Amino acid sequence: MAIKLHFFVAFLMFTAYYLAEVYSLVEFTNVQCESLDKDFCIFEKCLLKSVNRSYKYLSVSVKLLQLPVTKAKVHFSLQKRLNGYIPFLYNMTIDACRFLKSPNSNQVALFFYNCFKEHSNINHTCPFDHDIVVDKLSYDSINNKVTKMLPFPEGKYMFEMHWIAYDISRAITKFFISLTS
Ligand SMILES: *[C@@H]1O[C@H](CO)[C@@H](O)[C@H](O)[C@H]1NC(C)=O
Ligand SMILES: *[C@@H]1O[C@H](CO)[C@@H](O)[C@H](O)[C@H]1NC(C)=O
Ligand SMILES: *[C@@H]1O[C@H](CO)[C@@H](O)[C@H](O)[C@H]1NC(C)=O
Repeated sequence: MAIKLHFFVAFLMFTAYYLAEVYSLVEFTNVQCESLDKDFCIFEKCLLKSVNRSYKYLSVSVKLLQLPVTKAKVHFSLQKRLNGYIPFLYNMTIDACRFLKSPNSNQVALFFYNCFKEHSNINHTCPFDHDIVVDKLSYDSINNKVTKMLPFPEGKYMFEMHWIAYDISRAITKFFISLTS
């Protein structure tokens, strides 16, 4: 684990140095949400809204029907579009309850979590006894964090999350993102 983390940090520093100027704009292009178990959760909102050319945000709201949720995992993968989407760098499952208890325990998950936590009520550890909301997450709020930190090459990406409760996959959300210079 320590080795993995060191490698990750070294990787970030190395690539940040060489690629930091590659692009400057992060933009959401689409969001998709799907409940796999409608007795467990229902999406009430899943939208990308363009207010004007420079202000676009996404909002997701999911109603949990079997409260409280005391055991949750998230599988997430980053995929890059070439011919279809192919895996790019990250494909992992984390124990959400454990992660939320000590976010510094996983630097990769922490990076993605930092992108939306200020716009979400996923800001405490388990149990979850309320609807889950991500509200008005704009790419401006992410731009600062991502462009400073993540040296990904230009292109179209998808960040896919599988929401797993009690070891059963309950929902899938997909965030489509484009990085342009
Ligand atoms: C876009 O909309 C936001 C929020 O309503 C506003 O603050 C901003 O000034 C608008 N920008 C332009 C270029 O109209
Ligand atoms: C991610 O890894 C799992 C195995 O842990 C594999 O089944 C799955 O196909 C992978 N997904 C992607 C997008 O690479
Ligand atoms: C978590 O988010 C909710 C809703 O956005 C907010 O009211 C609350 O103060 C936040 N809690 C913490 C610990 O940041």
